[in-house]
Amino acid sequence: MFGRFLLALLPLVGSVLSQSGSSYTDPDNGFVFNGITDPVYGVTYGVVFPEPSSSGTYPDEFIGEIVAPLTAEWIGVSFGGAMLDCLLLVAWPNQNSIVASTRYATDYVQPTEYDGPVLTTLPSSYVNSTHWKYVYRCQNCTTWQGGGISLGGTGVLAWAYSNVGVDDPSDPESNFLEHTDFGFFGENFGQTENANYNNYVNGNPGTPTSTPPTTSPTGPTTTSPASPPTASATPYDYIIVGAGAGGIIAADRLSQNNKKVLLLERGGPSTGETGGTYVADWAEGTNLTKFDIPGLFESMFDDPDPWYWCSDVTFYAGCLLGGGTSVNGALYWYPTDTDFSTARGWPSSWSNHQAYTNAMTQRLPSTDHPSTDGERYLEQSAQVAMQLLNAQGYYQATINDSPDSKDHVYGYSAFDFINGKRGGVVATYLQTANQRSNFVYKDYTLVSSVVRNGSQILGVQTNNTAIGPNGFIPLNPNGRVILSAGSFGTPRILFQSGIGPTDMLQTVQQNAAVAANMPSESDWINLPVGMNVSDNPSINLVFTHPSIDAYDNWADVWTDPRPADAAQYLASQSGVFAGASPKLNFWRDYEGSDGIQRSAQGTVRPGAASVNTTLPYNASQIFTITVYLSSGITSRGRIGVTAGLNAVALENPWLTDPVDKVVLIQALEDVISTLPSVPDLTMITPDSGMTLEEYVDLYDPSTMCSNHWVGSAKMGTSSDTAVVDENAKVFNTDNLFVIDASIVPSLPVGNPHGTVMSAAEQAVANILALSGGP
Ligand SMILES: Cc1cc2nc3c(=O)[nH]c(=O)nc-3n(C[C@H](O)[C@H](O)[C@H](O)COP(=O)(O)OP(=O)(O)OC[C@H]3O[C@@H](n4cnc5c(N)ncnc54)[C@H](O)[C@@H]3O)c2cc1C
Ligand SMILES: *[C@@H]1O[C@H](CO)[C@@H](O)[C@H](O)[C@H]1NC(C)=O
Ligand SMILES: *[C@@H]1O[C@H](CO)[C@@H](O)[C@H](O)[C@H]1NC(C)=O
Ligand SMILES: *[C@@H]1O[C@H](CO)[C@@H](O)[C@H](O)[C@H]1NC(C)=O
Ligand SMILES: *[C@@H]1O[C@H](CO)[C@@H](O)[C@H](O)[C@H]1NC(C)=O
Ligand SMILES: *[C@@H]1O[C@H](CO)[C@@H](O)[C@H](O)[C@H]1NC(C)=O
Ligand SMILES: *[C@@H]1O[C@H](CO)[C@@H](O)[C@H](O)[C@H]1NC(C)=O
Ligand SMILES: *[C@@H]1O[C@H](CO)[C@@H](O)[C@H](O)[C@H]1NC(C)=O
Ligand SMILES: *[C@@H]1O[C@H](CO)[C@@H](O)[C@H](O)[C@H]1NC(C)=O
Repeated sequence: MFGRFLLALLPLVGSVLSQSGSSYTDPDNGFVFNGITDPVYGVTYGVVFPEPSSSGTYPDEFIGEIVAPLTAEWIGVSFGGAMLDCLLLVAWPNQNSIVASTRYATDYVQPTEYDGPVLTTLPSSYVNSTHWKYVYRCQNCTTWQGGGISLGGTGVLAWAYSNVGVDDPSDPESNFLEHTDFGFFGENFGQTENANYNNYVNGNPGTPTSTPPTTSPTGPTTTSPASPPTASATPYDYIIVGAGAGGIIAADRLSQNNKKVLLLERGGPSTGETGGTYVADWAEGTNLTKFDIPGLFESMFDDPDPWYWCSDVTFYAGCLLGGGTSVNGALYWYPTDTDFSTARGWPSSWSNHQAYTNAMTQRLPSTDHPSTDGERYLEQSAQVAMQLLNAQGYYQATINDSPDSKDHVYGYSAFDFINGKRGGVVATYLQTANQRSNFVYKDYTLVSSVVRNGSQILGVQTNNTAIGPNGFIPLNPNGRVILSAGSFGTPRILFQSGIGPTDMLQTVQQNAAVAANMPSESDWINLPVGMNVSDNPSINLVFTHPSIDAYDNWADVWTDPRPADAAQYLASQSGVFAGASPKLNFWRDYEGSDGIQRSAQGTVRPGAASVNTTLPYNASQIFTITVYLSSGITSRGRIGVTAGLNAVALENPWLTDPVDKVVLIQALEDVISTLPSVPDLTMITPDSGMTLEEYVDLYDPSTMCSNHWVGSAKMGTSSDTAVVDENAKVFNTDNLFVIDASIVPSLPVGNPHGTVMSAAEQAVANILALSGGP
């Protein structure tokens, strides 16, 4: 009987050869279909839906066609992309007419008659000396037992082909043997809708509609040549994966230089300007989302539905347009000369960062007074900390006015907010890119791997069948792929592409779903992806002072903000909500017992993440000084993936080197050394029962994390210790690049995204200058 009806395989296991539908005009009837011509058997499959498809006069139907050579004895189509539990159609020629029926199967056996759908053969169907053609109207066909077509959305159709005739060609319910072959193609049903559908059902093409079909529909008697639907997606000069700090800058600069650029992002919109709609009740009716309002930063961490974090990364990482820049504290420091020095691991050609840093600050200047009225709000903690630091020989500066001065200096926190709202790369670089016709942005598109032939990258494998056959998106000849998926995301893509340490590639290989897309072992490229990463270890000290307004520890800013502050912000983007929680930053240099220069950074803010004290205290008066060990740090960890493809730290990077720990404890001791000089200032965590050394010893390592990960695809001069060369090109590949925090060899002196952005400016300039590209 029917032992193997194989139409069961899931279509999304990517094959480069698979297809997705594109628009074409049938030369016989002038209908504009969306579909494919399968390249092996030369059978064309097309569908067209009414506009709108889900309501109006024709809510449950579509018109389809099959054009097949006579060697196709019968053809099947599954409108749900699989054999089981989907509406199936089978058709074949019989003399000079076409015989067809709808079928259904719940097992891999002969699909049987399915009642409900109504098939009507439309006039342009025929059988000639070489082909048969079936143009049909399918009513009551968009839903069926257990399923349906996602009207206006996307889906997968399957086809089945047989070179063996059916048992009784005159009987629509005839039995037949198993298909000899089958395949799948993606359909964007939204793009198949046609306003002339009401004419099509009567066999006439109507007036051509806006989307220019590849041939002009001049009616059933046209002699213009058939335009076969193309089998491949649009190719690009540059495909950039990830719309965060690095990816957006790369996309803007490449499109500015007239390259054809595709930017892919796995998440969706963030700020209101980008179509984001995640708005607090108190801001309802505005486009001021959680990602626009600086004062909602602390609420990122206690949201009941934090959909914006990457669920498959074990640390905080933003999975939405803007990446980390849409969810971070937006502290924004212009890089120092040391940040790009060989001492920090950069190739010597990168020492001259200033031109690129200037390019960045020109597009995106910092501000240390983000409120639109120019005033500073909620600054009590800054004032108290200044008193503490003055007694230690610190001086005050506007930090970004002299970035290289980072010893015994403090200043008001600087941000990349604009007009009292989150600014960053999304409000600047992305906006200019968006204005160019050679730039395309696609969101909700997850890249799993690059598709490569040895050292040459051919394109990327995505889960978006609407833009590429089975999700594959090709490069133009000489085209290039740039990975900008962040410190965790980029390694994961590299591993799935067969690039990285052997143990990680073996781990990925154990995952059957992705192993199929990995290159064979002989094509693996061994590079230290994920090795020797760093993140700032950070320790919180909690204080009280009577002058402080702890702002209720930011607990109610999302649900129940102070009414006057909310009103002021909505009226003019000024006030407390125009700023994030940090208020003051400071730096001091240290030399470790190993002779290595290290830097400590402090960040001061009202409120506290946690308090552990035996002292009585007033919770309305708490504030925090977070002390980070920053540049020069020698501790390293390792980023990798589990077999389930969760991105994890295989080894934690915090304080693995004892000298780092000694220096950090010294920095903490220095910060509190002048405590008695500030009247009424009390440290409550750690409390008097504990030394700083004990406090650091007991500190939960996971709360030492600063989310400042760098170095997982390091830039360097040797493939033994680095993943990309000085042009950001992945070693041993022809055309694969990385532009994001993972190329930064070691931590800069401040919070890192300013350095990541300057690095992106320089990397993209190098790539543009590198010969052999598009
Ligand atoms: C909670 C938090 C607070 C922070 N605070 C600060 C701060 O105040 N100041 C500072 O300087 N830095 C801060 N940082 C760090 C800063 O945000 C990052 O250094 C910076 O965003 C890194 O940029 P990137 O381009 O490497 O990656 P990201 O900005 O993370 O962007 C990566 C993008 O790639 C997308 N992506 C990932 N995988 C895929 C895939 N497979 N397919 C398609 N798309 C994919 C992601 O959705 C994301 O949009 C903070 C980070 C966090 C998480
Ligand atoms: C539409 O088809 C379903 C089966 O999918 C059937 O149950 C239903 O009766 C049909 N509706 C009409 C109006 O014929
Ligand atoms: C038969 O129909 C096919 C499909 O439309 C067409 O390509 C072919 O030219 C036709 N052959 C003849 C002889 O008309
Ligand atoms: C919000 O944004 C949408 C889309 O950009 C726009 O149509 C609307 O007018 C905006 N609303 C407000 C209140 O600004
Ligand atoms: C692709 O993955 C993204 C991110 O996980 C998801 O939002 C999107 O819905 C997926 N698309 C498809 C077609 O599965
Ligand atoms: C793969 O590369 C080899 C040699 O490098 C080449 O001969 C072959 O045509 C390539 N295949 C594809 C599909 O590009
Ligand atoms: C709180 O502090 C005490 C000592 O003061 C310590 O023993 C305990 O482990 C601390 N708890 C946490 C959660 O840090
Ligand atoms: C706690 O601090 C707040 C704000 O400074 C003050 O209004 C309140 O009176 C204090 N409460 C006590 C019990 O001291
Ligand atoms: C990681 O760092 C250690 C210590 O500095 C070094 O010995 C090792 O070679 C590095 N490994 C890689 C792959 O860079």
